[in-house]
Amino acid sequence: MPDLLLGQTLTFAADPFAEGPAAARHERHGAVLIDGGLIRASGPAAELRAAHPQARVHDYGQHLISAGFVDAHVHYPQTAIIASWGKRLIDWLNTYTFPEETRLADPAYARTIAARHFDLTLAHGTTTACSFATIHPASVDAFFAEAQSRGLRALTGKTCMDRNAPDGLRDSAQSAHDDSKALIDRWHGVDRLSYVITPRFAPTSTPAQLEVLGALWAEHPGMLMQTHLSEQTEEIAWVRDLFPAARDYLDVYEAHGLLGPGALFGHAIHLTDRERARLREVGAALVHCPTSNSFIGSGLFDLAGLKGEGQRVGLATDTGGGSSFSMLRTMAAAYEIAQLRGTAVHPAALWWLATAGSAGALGLGDRIGTLAPGREADLVVIDLASTPAIAQRAAQANDLWEALFPTIMMGDDRAIAAVWVNGSPVVPQAPQLCASQ
Ligand code: GUN
Ligand code: ZN
Repeated sequence: MPDLLLGQTLTFAADPFAEGPAAARHERHGAVLIDGGLIRASGPAAELRAAHPQARVHDYGQHLISAGFVDAHVHYPQTAIIASWGKRLIDWLNTYTFPEETRLADPAYARTIAARHFDLTLAHGTTTACSFATIHPASVDAFFAEAQSRGLRALTGKTCMDRNAPDGLRDSAQSAHDDSKALIDRWHGVDRLSYVITPRFAPTSTPAQLEVLGALWAEHPGMLMQTHLSEQTEEIAWVRDLFPAARDYLDVYEAHGLLGPGALFGHAIHLTDRERARLREVGAALVHCPTSNSFIGSGLFDLAGLKGEGQRVGLATDTGGGSSFSMLRTMAAAYEIAQLRGTAVHPAALWWLATAGSAGALGLGDRIGTLAPGREADLVVIDLASTPAIAQRAAQANDLWEALFPTIMMGDDRAIAAVWVNGSPVVPQAPQLCASQ
């Protein structure tokens, strides 16, 4: 039997960075019709109710129904070390991240952390994540098995590192290739799961490893490749030392076959003009990680400039470098960073980034990210008055954007009234904490 969800609805017919808020489609009395895991229609409630009298009705009142949030860059293995104090990137990796990632050598611990990641992110309205795993193939198995059991569309890959990482957290060029290939054969295209070729970043791979991963990617057209690019200035200087023949950081990836339209570059803050021109020419995607960029002290991503010149951009939490599991908080941080650069990003553009924009960056714009007919039914239902502070501000609103912006700036998991995954409502789970944590 079809389901008919009633409430305010918000979706996008175009990119608000290009078209302005008119790119959005808002129905004050809207509805979304779901059947067989897909969105069949969305529009005015009266029309859809009349056309589908047999549908099971779920009345969300004044709540806002949107496509679920899409987190385009996250490290699920870092869930338990979110909000670790006092370091910049390289020290933060060595002090907090690598020791924790070493623990995922234990498949049972990996499964615990994967389950916790999905419990937390679903409670925050995120229905698709593109995650880094660890070097351990079982960490990929854990993430995909958890996503599969929940019916989620999800992406990850074995993080490859064969230098500048501690004992127990290094692979080799050969094993990175062989393990990645075996995981592709096991998981890529199974249910809603996609494998992503994942060299961590240039400093932790030898040229030989980058080369084999570039070759593996070339064997799988249509697959994504994710890594990090130009996050901190110290990192860029290190890359210059490690790869003296490269013109710049991006050139390291390109020289090893790791640049193409399916490339996802996390951070991409300190780019040269040449890098920007080349990224745009190729049509690679940049992933903005604003809470991480302020938390680790990385810098101010040029959102307005990069979108204005036609780059593809997605939005991401980057937990645990990022300091929040919430894509609402992530939108707020994107707004604040743009303000520091002198641009006020419209709420429509923020919401687009967290849904359709991130879906497009992942090459999934025809599957998820909007309420268009035929899209997979991954939805979030937002309470626009989830706390007294938000409610009193939203009560003064004159339009949707004034009603929504307080939730963007001040909302958290309390704003998530319901989540639908693959056409079914998700029962919220309290994250499981095991005794050893
Ligand atoms: N660069 C290389 N690895 C990482 C990571 O785990 N987090 C962040 N923020 N940057 C990185
Ligand atoms: Zn990252």
